[in-house]
Amino acid sequence: MTRVLSCIQPTGDVHLGNYLGALRNWVSGQHEKDVFHGIVDLHALTVTEQPGVLGETTLKLAAMLFAIGLDPEVATVFVQSHVPEHTQLGWVMECTVSYGELSRMTQFKDKTAKREGHFISAGLFTYPALQAADIVLYDANEVPVGDDQRQHIEITRDIAIRFNHRFGDTLVVPEAVTPKAGARVMDLQDPTSKMSKSSESDAGCIMMLDDPKSIAKKFKRAVTDSDSEVYYDVKAKPGVSSLLDILAAATDSSAEALATQYTQYGPLKADAGEAIVAMLEPIQARYRELIGDKAELGRLLRVGSDRARTVASATLARVYDAIGLLPA
Ligand code: TRP
Repeated sequence: MTRVLSCIQPTGDVHLGNYLGALRNWVSGQHEKDVFHGIVDLHALTVTEQPGVLGETTLKLAAMLFAIGLDPEVATVFVQSHVPEHTQLGWVMECTVSYGELSRMTQFKDKTAKREGHFISAGLFTYPALQAADIVLYDANEVPVGDDQRQHIEITRDIAIRFNHRFGDTLVVPEAVTPKAGARVMDLQDPTSKMSKSSESDAGCIMMLDDPKSIAKKFKRAVTDSDSEVYYDVKAKPGVSSLLDILAAATDSSAEALATQYTQYGPLKADAGEAIVAMLEPIQARYRELIGDKAELGRLLRVGSDRARTVASATLARVYDAIGLLPA
């Protein structure tokens, strides 16, 4: 069966755009392929300096991933730092990639430009080597990524091919695949930008744990368009079309069909808000249960990391053996 790896950094809380745009497809995808989902806390360490933060955000993200429906018996959900093979293979990957190649990574250039005047860790520079380890450890055939990550998959392929050339056929060379398209979820205050928690105010962003009242309020205040007709046209009517897209995603229907049922903005906003509240309610209930039972959450993560380690340790052993390191 095709092995798929996706990873997510535990930075910040999950919002509706993350869920409808991507994470919901992880849930349906778990029955189609052999999926591994890593919470990559060590990657987040490249830009995290405060103590006590990463463990907490990792736990919350794990609870959310299980709450939306990832089944630990079906999908392998693990925390990167619980699988020491990542950093062990990461070093081997660092020795298989060149300084020049790492210097050409556009994400490194962007991130360092943004962090001007701040501490720039060497980890930010060698990050792609750790990411390559994440991928090849699991013999992943496919890595679903957005355009911003394509260069990292390219370099992973280059590293794997070079390793195989030097030490014999050992690593599976992965492929970047385009994730199944999720819903278009735009910022409620700026319907021409994607919903994101970094936008100026949080009024345009629905967090997965928002309570029903604030969800209703955010929808009520959503920016709409200057005339007062309801029809679906992303260019001419970005605000209304975005509300229709969200309502369609929450109710599994089509935005165009929904548009014919409304003549005014008010009821559309109210229905979109209600639909999201209804969709999030069971997720929030499961989340609260899990986050209140740290022992159970820990157990679920151990199921994942045990399964991950079985695969990862076999790959690392294969790599050490191919290199010809002296067996311990
Ligand atoms: N670099 C990815 C990001 O910033 C996260 C990531 C780490 C990743 N390891 C990965 C993604 C392995 C895919 C596969 O989003």
